Amino acid sequence: MHLLYPSDPFDKKRPDEQYAEEYEAVVAAGLEAALFSFEDFEMGFFKTSIPIPPGDSVLYRGWMLTPDAYAALVTHLRDKGVIEFTNATQYRHCHHLPEWYPLLVAYTSETVVLACDANFNQALDGLHWPGYFIKDYVKSLNTGSGSLVDTPERIAPLVEAMRQYRGQIEGGICVRRREEYLQDTERRYFVLLGQTYGATGEVPSLVTECARLIDSPFFSIDVALRSDGVLRVVELGDGQVSDRKEWSAEHFARMLSHGMSTRRPNLLTEPPLAIDD
Ligand SMILES: Nc1ncnc2c1ncn2[C@@H]1O[C@H](COP(=O)(O)OP(=O)(O)OP(=O)(O)O)[C@@H](O)[C@H]1O
Ligand SMILES: [Mg+2]
Repeated sequence: MHLLYPSDPFDKKRPDEQYAEEYEAVVAAGLEAALFSFEDFEMGFFKTSIPIPPGDSVLYRGWMLTPDAYAALVTHLRDKGVIEFTNATQYRHCHHLPEWYPLLVAYTSETVVLACDANFNQALDGLHWPGYFIKDYVKSLNTGSGSLVDTPERIAPLVEAMRQYRGQIEGGICVRRREEYLQDTERRYFVLLGQTYGATGEVPSLVTECARLIDSPFFSIDVALRSDGVLRVVELGDGQVSDRKEWSAEHFARMLSHGMSTRRPNLLTEPPLAIDD
């Protein structure tokens, strides 16, 4: 298995600054890592900094990609005879909220998926939610007044602000029922080949349950404590493009190293495992 990181745009021999610490950590943990120029990839060219043996698998760690761009990356990898760790369907499954939402509906805030130009008043008529949290299929707006609005009338201007700020809306709009999460209780967990991992301490059973339901070899689950004491899923992400959040680079690398060393066809039934610090 090789990890694949974007290179520095000005020096293809070095990892992009954003990923440099993690790159050093995975190499120190004994994993093999290659680089590629993201800028060249965007132009349709793909070359890895070191040859990857045919038949080996590649786990990408880098910028978020649209599902189409991820599928293009997979095609480049296969053209070189190597196998993507996560296939394009699995990538979309965790990257786009409407894909995973139906499986985790009991554990996450109620969501209505709409087109960007929907009539939000009409579509949400009768819901009377305590508030509306707005995302596209991937991201919320964390600038300006944020992504929470009190009434459906405020959604269209927020979508416009999102479009202006980000340049594009990915997919469509997810309107989520506002829930009250207790401050500083959100935590990120990773699921690698069916094994659940946390930055510290025990892995909650909610995470283990989600790990069972989601078809992806590597994804992140964010959970937070709601004000009524119920642990909720805030969002899922493909593990290849998830920030590490509260995870140190070293701990993240240890997880990858542990996951790869215990790689077996089906770990989905195994209990959560602590990795030593
Ligand atoms: N349904 C909701 N009701 C109230 N607050 C929410 C809701 N969903 C998410 N939030 C809050 O907004 C934050 C960002 O939400 P989310 O993680 O879904 O979006 P994001 O764009 O991926 O943000 P980030 O990049 O910070 O992870 C969450 O950490 C949580 O505190
Ligand atoms: Mg988030």
